[in-house]
Amino acid sequence: MKEIESLADWIKQSDFTVVLTGAGMSTESGLPDFRSKDGWWRNFDPATIATVDALETNYSLFHEFYCMRLKTLEDCRPHRGHYILAEWEREGMINSIATQNVDGFHKAAGSGRVYELHGSLRSIRCNSCEEYAEVEDFIHKVQCRSCGGRLRPGVVLFGETLPQDAWDCALRDIKKAHLVIVIGTSLQVYPANQLPGMTNGKTALINYDIQDGDSRFDMVIQGKTGQVLARLNREILGDV
Ligand code: APR
Repeated sequence: MKEIESLADWIKQSDFTVVLTGAGMSTESGLPDFRSKDGWWRNFDPATIATVDALETNYSLFHEFYCMRLKTLEDCRPHRGHYILAEWEREGMINSIATQNVDGFHKAAGSGRVYELHGSLRSIRCNSCEEYAEVEDFIHKVQCRSCGGRLRPGVVLFGETLPQDAWDCALRDIKKAHLVIVIGTSLQVYPANQLPGMTNGKTALINYDIQDGDSRFDMVIQGKTGQVLARLNREILGDV
């Protein structure tokens, strides 16, 4: 596929490459995404479950949903694509990863500069006093040990603002980037979906489902994350 060869060249020529990932980065690890045919939002309405209102007025449902996501996470691990991106960072081929994912897989695979735009499922805190708590306490519906408040995962719920530092770092890097590679996201959610348009560098999309709007990318590669990253890796390493 000539796109693989071209993108491999772009990666080698770029002095500052940023990767933006979404749930399609982790489906091959066994985690559902959100909007594909078997994604989370096919069975749950995010408006009634992934919001502060749900946390405050329907804690049982909120708690049940996030316990299910934490349980799903227990049996899943980063896949070869995550490890390839971590290797590329070590080799200086990419600078950083901005991710919408809350699974922690990029860091678990060894990536260092990871900006978790939507937080992390495993970081539990009190919704009232912000005190950190153990995952086990959340799972067992223990109240905050400091103030008795409700515990919640450190993920960005719809209507909440993104972690300022993660956003600022991602935006800073994207603006500087010579190349932005977007992997496994439908780009439906604001403001993360604005990032690809904020670079003056080249843009490439690697995704399973290709939408009409994706033509704004300089390059689009339709395919599965793990396979495409493995082929890119062979194309790049093959030269050294
Ligand atoms: N390889 C490549 N692409 C894939 C793969 C795969 N193995 N699996 C799924 N995809 C693609 C799908 O085609 C889809 O376009 O990944 C995209 C996933 O899109 P979404 O399910 O919408 O996930 P995402 O874009 O990350 O959602 C953004 O929405 O609900 C919020 O907070 C949640 O961070 C999430 C945000």
